[in-house]
Amino acid sequence: MFAFTPDPAQPKPAFYADLIEAARALVHDEPDPVANMANLSALIWQFLPRLNWAGFYRTVDGGLVLGPFQGKPACIRIAAGQGVCGTALASGETQLVPDVHAFPGHIACDADSRSELVVPVWRDGQVIAVIDLDSPEPARFDAEDAQGIEALAAAIAASI
Ligand code: SME
Repeated sequence: MFAFTPDPAQPKPAFYADLIEAARALVHDEPDPVANMANLSALIWQFLPRLNWAGFYRTVDGGLVLGPFQGKPACIRIAAGQGVCGTALASGETQLVPDVHAFPGHIACDADSRSELVVPVWRDGQVIAVIDLDSPEPARFDAEDAQGIEALAAAIAASI
């Protein structure tokens, strides 16, 4: 089937370049957005260490609705401006949250989550989805992770 080898032990920019190459190969020539989001969340889950949730929320009627993901069952609908994901949707900006307990309005889908990275996926001038990554480790994500997931979002935006 698919065999990818992004190595999380290498420097993050190189790791994300490999991850994006794998992501492009996964969605290549496949038009179905659910299949692509399912495989992309599985790819992230397989290669990013120290996560407890990884997946998509899609923009539907101005709010967010749960999409394909890996991890525990999660809240289904999030209004724009609500929680970390809704803030990413409303602002259009990446949310890098080192301590979710310090984020006003954070939605605790999984009580194990301690830090979170949410990246908007832009297409045709609209945020069509967000990629949400949660970690049980405080401050798991840094600016290089944010840049890497932003580049991933840009690479797959036409495929979801
Ligand atoms: N913590 C998110 C909700 C989604 S779960 O983490 C999967 C938030 O505050 O928006």
